Amino acid sequence: DRTIDLAVISGDGIGPEVVAQGLKVLTAVLPQDVKLETHEYDLGAKRWHATGETLTDAELEKLKSHHALLLGAIGDPGVPSGVLERGLLLKLRFAFDHFVNLRPSKLFPNTSSPLAGRPEIDFVVVREGTEGPYVGNGGTIRKGTPHEVANEVSVNTAYGVERVVRDAYARAQARPRKKLTLVHKNNVLVHAGHLWKDTFDRVGREFPEVSTDYLHVDAATIFLVTDPARFDVIVTDNLFGDIITDLAAAVSGGIGLAASGNINPTREFPSMFEPVHGSAPDIAGSGKADPTATVLSVALLLRHLGFEAEAARVDEAVTVDLAERGEAPRTTDEIGDALAARAAG
Ligand code: IPM
Ligand code: MN
Repeated sequence: DRTIDLAVISGDGIGPEVVAQGLKVLTAVLPQDVKLETHEYDLGAKRWHATGETLTDAELEKLKSHHALLLGAIGDPGVPSGVLERGLLLKLRFAFDHFVNLRPSKLFPNTSSPLAGRPEIDFVVVREGTEGPYVGNGGTIRKGTPHEVANEVSVNTAYGVERVVRDAYARAQARPRKKLTLVHKNNVLVHAGHLWKDTFDRVGREFPEVSTDYLHVDAATIFLVTDPARFDVIVTDNLFGDIITDLAAAVSGGIGLAASGNINPTREFPSMFEPVHGSAPDIAGSGKADPTATVLSVALLLRHLGFEAEAARVDEAVTVDLAERGEAPRTTDEIGDALAARAAG
């Protein structure tokens, strides 16, 4: 018998509600001979309020032993900004070397996209996940004075840029349109920008079938709204990727549908799958949270673990469910039930 050993970080707010639906769909779609084992980790704002801890070394070590991690959402307004982001989420992404932050955007039927009815949107952003301005390489001098200087250094290594660019080319190569766009700002950020562009051009010579394009990030935001169909695969740095994937989510059906995978392609460490949205404390417990982003993240998880047919069934269940979604609002649980029933086939 095969087993999937999954670490679950349900987290705060709507996190536990959407994760429950994700697990429901996962259970429904797995082949009979595959056993699902879940291990819940009490991490997030609740835990921090209770103990002051974000993620201990022992927990980090234990998390390494699982096949993958599923995360709901963490945070609440009572935790100072940055504590859980740096102490938990980014700590996991860095410690597990999640250098590919995969964020697909698809225009699903019947969504609230301002671009609904426009040509097909179906692209994926490969956001670098371990470097850039996220590394915390910075410092403040003369703090609190009128002469304060705050530096936030973006770290870009040849090794780090090349591996994510290579991954993005491979993904583009595997898609029908075979197109890869590099997004950066190399007219201003000349040091990092040229490392990215030179690497992009050099690695591209190994992928002659992939057509390439370069856009400055500001121009990319225009095209994401006016002509999103031009994109197939986008590769970009950690911060630009953070920003453009929220925009991409907004134009392709809303943050309630945006899934993501924090992937360690070498499989040295477990990958982590999470909806892009946050803990939404304002609607927690009301049954209003849309679990679809978590369910789509489960599809990414399945694909990563080699369950391609099952992943495709989950994606298809979401597409059909959205197409048939009526006017009457459904609860988190009802959407989960409907998706699980459809995905089970
Ligand atoms: C995301 C989030 C995180 C990020 C925050 C919470 C650290 O915005 O997953 O996109 O900036 O990466
Ligand atoms: Mn973000």
